[in-house]
Amino acid sequence: LQREFQHFMLKEIYEQPESIGRGVAQYVASLGSSAPSFHALPEANCFEEIQILACGTSLHAALVGQFVLEQVAQIPTRVRSASEFLAAPLPVTRQTLLIVVSQSGETADVLAAMRLANQQSSSGLAGFKVFAITNNSHSAIAQQADYERSVGAGVENSVAATKTFTAQLVLFYGLALAWGRQRDRIPDEQWVTWQSRMAALPSQVDQVLQQDDSIAAIARSLKHTNHIILLGTGINYPIALEGALKLKETTYTHAEGYAAGEFLHGSIALLDHTIPTIALCPTPPFRSDPSLENPPSEGGDQMLKVTQRIRRNGSDVIAIGGSEAAIALPLCDQLLSPFLTVIPLQLLAYHLAIARNIEVDRPRNITKSLNSF
Ligand code: BG6
Repeated sequence: LQREFQHFMLKEIYEQPESIGRGVAQYVASLGSSAPSFHALPEANCFEEIQILACGTSLHAALVGQFVLEQVAQIPTRVRSASEFLAAPLPVTRQTLLIVVSQSGETADVLAAMRLANQQSSSGLAGFKVFAITNNSHSAIAQQADYERSVGAGVENSVAATKTFTAQLVLFYGLALAWGRQRDRIPDEQWVTWQSRMAALPSQVDQVLQQDDSIAAIARSLKHTNHIILLGTGINYPIALEGALKLKETTYTHAEGYAAGEFLHGSIALLDHTIPTIALCPTPPFRSDPSLENPPSEGGDQMLKVTQRIRRNGSDVIAIGGSEAAIALPLCDQLLSPFLTVIPLQLLAYHLAIARNIEVDRPRNITKSLNSF
C-alpha cells in the first residue's frame, strides 16, 4: 500500500530500506563479480593513506567511513571538515587518495578545499588523486575530480539530509570491503558474512521504522525541552554528532553529541533534570561478531557506566538499543549498527519539528547546500 507523506523529510526517511538495498546491490553484492561499480577506481595498492573532506551531514558519514576504512581495511585515514582544511590543510603526498564527500556536489567549501589540495599537489605529486562521492554525477565536485561515484539515493528534497546519509555509508562500506579484500584483510568466510549482514539491512531498517509511533510519542514529550545531549561510542560517536545536527537543523533545539566516555570529563556538569540524554547503546545485546573480526569493544560497558552515572545524578536517559531501551533495535553487528541507530534520531527530529510547528522541509537560516556565502 502506497503511504501518503505530508513532508519530504518523512518520505525520504521511509525510502531508506529501498535506497540502502539499491546501494548494497550496487556496491557490495557485486564486489568480486564482473559488475562495474568499482571498475576504474584506484586499487588499494595505489595509495597509502586516505584523507576525507566534507561538511555537515556528509562530514558525519565521512567519520563513519574513517572507522570502517581503518578498522576493516586497515588503511590510515584522516577526516577534516572542508572549511577547516582551508584554514589548516593536511599535507598531501603522492600516496594520498583525497576523498571529497558532498550530497549536492556543489558545496563551496568542498570545492575550495579541492582546489587548494590540487595546488599543493601540482608541485610534482603525480600520484595524488581526488575521488568524489556525491549524489549527482553532473555536479561541479563530481566533474572536477579524478574519480567519482554517485551514492544513487535519488533526489533528496528536504533540506535535512537523511537517505543520502545512509547511501553515503553504504558506499564507504563498499569501498572498505573492496580495498580490504585487495589488501588481504578480509578472508573469504568474513566476506560471505559481510555480504549477508549487509543484505539484511533493509529489513532491519524497516523494523526500526515500525516503531515510528512510539518515537513520535517520545518526540512530543520533548516539546518543551531546550537542550538535549546525545552520547555514542566508537562507530556510533559520529551518529551522536549527526543526531545532534538533525535536531538543531530541524527543531532549533540546542543539541550536542559527545563520545560517552569523554562526556564525563567536564561536560557532565551541564546536566540537570531538565536536560535529557539520548544514549546510543548498540552493545549489548549487539554483541561484536567474532566472524567479522570487529575491533575490540568496551563501548557497551562504558556506555552502561556513563548512563548509570547520569541517572544517579537525576537526569533522564532515553536509550536507543540495549537492555533498557526506550527504542529497541534489531540484533545487529556493532560495525553495522550506524545504519540502525541513525533512523530513530531522524524520526525524532522530524516529529519534534512537527510538534513545534516548524516547517520541517525548509528550516530557517539554512539551505540544502551552501554553494555561495
Ligand atoms: C549545509 C546543509 O549547508 O551543507 C547541511 O545545511 C549539509 O544539511 C551540508 O549537510 C553539506 O552539504 P553537502 O551537499 O555538501 O553534503
